[in-house]
Amino acid sequence: MERLDKFLCDCGVGTRSQVKSILKAGRVTVDGKPEKDGSRKLATETAQVCLDGEPLGKTGTVVIMLNKPAGYVTATVDREQKTVMELLPATYKGLNPVGRLDKETEGLLLFTDDGDLLHRLISPKKGIAKVYYAKHEGTATPEDVAAFEEGLLLRDGTKCLPAKLEPLGAGESLITVCEGKYHQVRRMMASRGMTVTYLERRAEGSLTLGALPRGEIRQLNKEEIENLEK
Ligand code: URA
Repeated sequence: MERLDKFLCDCGVGTRSQVKSILKAGRVTVDGKPEKDGSRKLATETAQVCLDGEPLGKTGTVVIMLNKPAGYVTATVDREQKTVMELLPATYKGLNPVGRLDKETEGLLLFTDDGDLLHRLISPKKGIAKVYYAKHEGTATPEDVAAFEEGLLLRDGTKCLPAKLEPLGAGESLITVCEGKYHQVRRMMASRGMTVTYLERRAEGSLTLGALPRGEIRQLNKEEIENLEK
């Protein structure tokens, strides 16, 4: 038996407070009857729960967002280092990280249980934009901005796709890339003589970190999952 409000959250309907107002608004039915009490216990395998008349189930894709702190490696297991999996509540331990952030990089990291979605999201063909905030040595110049726009050639000869560099002032920039090569942003900045000292991913596609505190997770709702690939 499971509480109705928890079931609705697990289905990706919304956050706990969103679920509360959805219930209050009378948009949920259980076995055909309107239900406003989130504490009601259900046999969720057999009960028919609907939102706005649409049946809900936990079989849908689960995607969560973590605001990753520094000091955790993006891996499902590691013998020596702390992994991002340690930051997830037990219910989400089966999910896999979508791409990776370096150990010292902070910010937006997605996880999903849907392998096909994961591969589509990290594919360079999809070209999903990722926005990073960097603190770095030196100050980005108009020549650096033009070189990013052109597509950088890294020190080891790797060619990057065109990217956006927005100087925010001395030693601070926003960088937008549509691919995910190893240490990409740090290497791009280094190729222009600007060593990165701090890096945070702030957005991925239509998603931003918003007010999610560092070290916390939140589950995406259906609409957010659909918008991920747009
Ligand atoms: N680019 C980097 O250099 N590091 C990250 O963690 C992500 C993008």
